[in-house]
Amino acid sequence: MNEVKVSNEELQRIYNDLPKFYDRANAMISFFQDVKWRAELIKTVKSYCNNPKRILDVASGKGELSYVISKLIKTDIVMVDYAENMLKSSLIEGDKVLASFYNLPFRDNVFDAVVSSFALHAADDIGAVVKEMTRVSRKVVGVIAMGKSDNWLLRNYVAFYLRFIQPYLAALVGAKPLDYKYIYYIYRKIPTNSQLKSIISKIFDLKVFKVKALGSVYIFVGLKKREQGKEGEKSIKEEKIV
Ligand SMILES: C[S@@+](CC[C@H](N)C(=O)[O-])C[C@H]1O[C@@H](n2cnc3c(N)ncnc32)[C@H](O)[C@@H]1O
Repeated sequence: MNEVKVSNEELQRIYNDLPKFYDRANAMISFFQDVKWRAELIKTVKSYCNNPKRILDVASGKGELSYVISKLIKTDIVMVDYAENMLKSSLIEGDKVLASFYNLPFRDNVFDAVVSSFALHAADDIGAVVKEMTRVSRKVVGVIAMGKSDNWLLRNYVAFYLRFIQPYLAALVGAKPLDYKYIYYIYRKIPTNSQLKSIISKIFDLKVFKVKALGSVYIFVGLKKREQGKEGEKSIKEEKIV
């Protein structure tokens, strides 16, 4: 497995250029680690896919992950999300497609890499989304999202934090506590990290699976199995460009 580190210089460059309206609540609830973890994901993806020409950011939101990609890799970026307002207020230029991650409106093997950050935990069927991401990728799939430790003590410690502390931390930077309580309800229903690992191992060749923050965040990177992909389909079928 590749051990990838993000250098201080790289992080500094990303932070320096971060737009002022960057989501402060996100940073606050992850103890200001979210940008670093996104950068770690992208560097890990890059280590498995040199010079990607086109990358898809799934459930991109305003493009926080796309923004990090644009700082670390020279490539075309396509963002897809089902919330039109998110795409409209995006942080970077690039193609934006309005669609659900269960049904990506692209042909097979169109992107060199397909990535996603802090969104997959919201899916009722994470495996179905990872399958769909793998279908449209030619090579690599990389994800960072909220996970759940297999250790009972850690799991309950994080549950307490998400239910009683994090919503009020978010309030400190102006967010509504209630808006953040839903994260606790998502946490209750997601699979544990080892269950998730077993689901995705059946979908592609899993290369990296690591956890952060007491198992409450995972990063994984997988390679499409050879027999899964027909090489070289180039065109993108876009349903709706915002
Ligand atoms: C917490 S935001 C994450 C945004 C960004 N990727 C980041 O790193 O901060 C979750 C995003 O997932 C999107 N999302 C949730 N369910 C989705 C679905 N079924 N299809 C497409 N996008 C979805 C939401 O609209 C939202 O923009």
